[in-house]
Amino acid sequence: MKRILSGIQPSGALTLGNYLGAIKNFVTLQQAHECLFMIVDLHAITVPQDRLVLRQHIKELAALYVACGIDPKKAHIFIQSEVPAHTALSWVLTCHASMGELSRMTQFKDKSAKQEETGGHISAGLFNYPVLMAADVLLYDVDLVPVGDDQKQHMELTRDLAGRFNSKYGDTFKIPEVFIPPQGARIMSLQDPTKKMSKSDENTKNFVLLTDELHVIQKKIKSAVTDSESTIGYDPVNRPGISNLLDIYSCLTGETIETLVAKYEGKGYGDFKSELAEVVVTTLEPIQQRMKDILQSGEIDDILDQGRDAAMKLAFKKLSKVNHKVGLGRKR
Ligand code: AMP
Ligand code: TRP
Repeated sequence: MKRILSGIQPSGALTLGNYLGAIKNFVTLQQAHECLFMIVDLHAITVPQDRLVLRQHIKELAALYVACGIDPKKAHIFIQSEVPAHTALSWVLTCHASMGELSRMTQFKDKSAKQEETGGHISAGLFNYPVLMAADVLLYDVDLVPVGDDQKQHMELTRDLAGRFNSKYGDTFKIPEVFIPPQGARIMSLQDPTKKMSKSDENTKNFVLLTDELHVIQKKIKSAVTDSESTIGYDPVNRPGISNLLDIYSCLTGETIETLVAKYEGKGYGDFKSELAEVVVTTLEPIQQRMKDILQSGEIDDILDQGRDAAMKLAFKKLSKVNHKVGLGRKR
């Protein structure tokens, strides 16, 4: 049994990309492993947030985890900011990270460019974001971190920081492995399949939100961009649109791409998209219903309290060890 940890930012409704690239794998992994799943609200405030909206998104994300199948009896679900050891370790690691390596993070380059474009300020938090992520992971002696493709570079930094710390102070942190799902790690935009499906996209037709109304989901899938060919075929480089739709279909049903291509031989894009729309709706409808039920029942607070208590115990132990090794505080 391995220990697994991951997190998602409560920065708005989640997309089908988040579900296939992240949450769906969490649900599978919890069967055989000890899992910790966070709502990383401290990461969310690296860009401006409205406080009331943020608070709402935190609860909704917690409910969504459970609605998607994460079982609070098997996995710990908690809010990052409720375990103060995360920020404490993040500071110690910040003092061991270099400006140079943080400047090379592509997510920082992308997000800071976006902030600049829209006239927003670039916070130092945005720059330090990957160090906080390293702290999230290193606090828990994690074996495996399941994330989408876009977080690979942050995980490399996490491993570097852990290795650097260990060689300076002696064995302290477990060096985590990254788990990028073989399929679904990069679900693409429906209208521009050369870029990633992202909830922050201006064009809402580019993504399916897990909370979109069912008729809206159907419409978005049916109007997804394909190409001028007429067969259902898989070729992500030359035919990114249909390939992305095949990826989504395959991830949702478990059928292989080959099976799907064979199934749709002789059929057109219209038939394929209608059936895919049905598959997406059939998956999301019960999730939406469960999410509503969970939010109404109020059970989410108990789940988050239990998750926080379990995480706090583990995190405090590691933080004390780190502080001691660095020479912080007093020796007792
Ligand atoms: P974020 O929405 O950036 O907090 O991402 C949460 C998780 O979803 C991370 O593990 C991401 O790598 C994953 N993710 C986000 N967008 C996609 C996408 N389009 N395809 C696959 N995984 C994604
Ligand atoms: N940075 C991740 C993302 O945007 C979220 C995250 C924060 C995370 N801390 C983490 C993921 C620790 C895995 C482990 O997707």
